[in-house]
Amino acid sequence: MKIAPSILSADFCDLKHDIAVVEQAGVTYLHVDIMDGHFVPNITFGPSVVANIRKNTNLTLDCHLMIDDPERYVEDFARAGGDILTVHVESTKHIYRVLQLIHTAGAKAGIVLNPGTPLTAIEPVLPMVDQVLIMTVNPGFGGQTFIPNMVNKIQKLNTMKTAGHYDFDIEVDGGITEETLVPCRQAGANVFVAGSFIYSAKEPQKQIELLRHAAEK
Ligand code: DX5
Ligand code: ZN
Repeated sequence: MKIAPSILSADFCDLKHDIAVVEQAGVTYLHVDIMDGHFVPNITFGPSVVANIRKNTNLTLDCHLMIDDPERYVEDFARAGGDILTVHVESTKHIYRVLQLIHTAGAKAGIVLNPGTPLTAIEPVLPMVDQVLIMTVNPGFGGQTFIPNMVNKIQKLNTMKTAGHYDFDIEVDGGITEETLVPCRQAGANVFVAGSFIYSAKEPQKQIELLRHAAEK
């Protein structure tokens, strides 16, 4: 089980501090949201910021690429120090090629689906991914409300994972709190992204503890 704090809700002028805070709380993942203003209606940052983050932490950089045609940039993000590059199945005509490119660049490859995209869209690539990310909100912004219906999707994915003898991680992202984490874990998720729940609180370390306890329930 892993908690992956999303820096989308961190202070971008004080990232070094905000990363150190969650690192001290003992997490091993840092979730890095890349948005291009096309695939999603919001813009964050690109490979140069990821390279700067890399210089300041040894955490596993779990990069969620919300960008059109990610094949144009996956090598740059790998070179910048991204450890896991997760791409949206809706964002490219050539998902197989993108996942191959990520592996060739030396990173782990993840696939992610919007809430409205069925699992059949990713079935052909399940044998080659290291992680599957189930969006539990529509991507683009932090602080949105968890979509409860996605728990069924996690459950179905977990059944496919068992049937296919796959060993990818199942990650969830969007609206994760100490309450919503529980059904996701019960359905088979083992990596939990949380942005506003951690960073919008006065004491992020306490929030991480709450998530940990919820995961152990
Ligand atoms: C949303 C991003 C998330 C975001 C989650 O598009 O992919 O990673 O930071 O934020 P919360 O946890 O606040 O829903
Ligand atoms: Zn994300």
